[in-house]
Amino acid sequence: MQKGIFISVEGPDGAGKTSVITQLLPRLADYGKVVTTREPGGVPIAEKIREVILNPEHTGMDDKTELLLYIAARRQHLKERIEPALEAGNILLVDRFIDSSVAYQGFGRGLNPADIDWLNHFATDGLVPDLTLYFDIDVEEGLARIAQTRGHEVNRLDMESLGLHQRVREGYLSILNKQPDRLVKIDASQPLEQVVADAWSVIETRFFKD
Ligand code: TYD
Repeated sequence: MQKGIFISVEGPDGAGKTSVITQLLPRLADYGKVVTTREPGGVPIAEKIREVILNPEHTGMDDKTELLLYIAARRQHLKERIEPALEAGNILLVDRFIDSSVAYQGFGRGLNPADIDWLNHFATDGLVPDLTLYFDIDVEEGLARIAQTRGHEVNRLDMESLGLHQRVREGYLSILNKQPDRLVKIDASQPLEQVVADAWSVIETRFFKD
């Protein structure tokens, strides 16, 4: 039985999710214990799977293998981190969750979205976030930000073509259209303080104002 609040954070690469999450933490802490985590990863077994998925040397990875590894990492993360945090009544902020698989492996790689929905459901036992903040940014702007901030620490997904990243963004916009109650779009091209303010306003209205 879920008692906490489950918020996932999504967006194309370079949307600045991590910086926004960091700045939201002190505000959320006024309302309860906050737990932050990320996918793929978040717990030791899933972090090992992450290393396999994102290793730039693994250029030969099949698309379905990639999908199944993300799904496997999600399952382990759910059991060890997400469910316990929600059962303890925490405010849980997860950097990427089910929508990343639909956007990247579905729209990006071209795998069947219905298969991905099924696999997500299988891995999560149907658990869906209470709210998903979708940070929207022009693909080229996002990739330029990554190039500026990460130096040579580039992962296998970052090396993919512009076309893939464009399809990923379209994927997110399509999920947003289909599930407007769960996903809220935030303009991530704005200055960081404004992005944080917009995100906070959505969270506050949804959970902390009556
Ligand atoms: P990461 O360095 O954490 O990227 P970011 O900081 O943008 O979140 O790498 C995670 C990569 O994995 C990112 O490119 C998105 C991708 N991804 C998928 O393709 N499918 C998934 O299900 C998940 C969770 C992530």
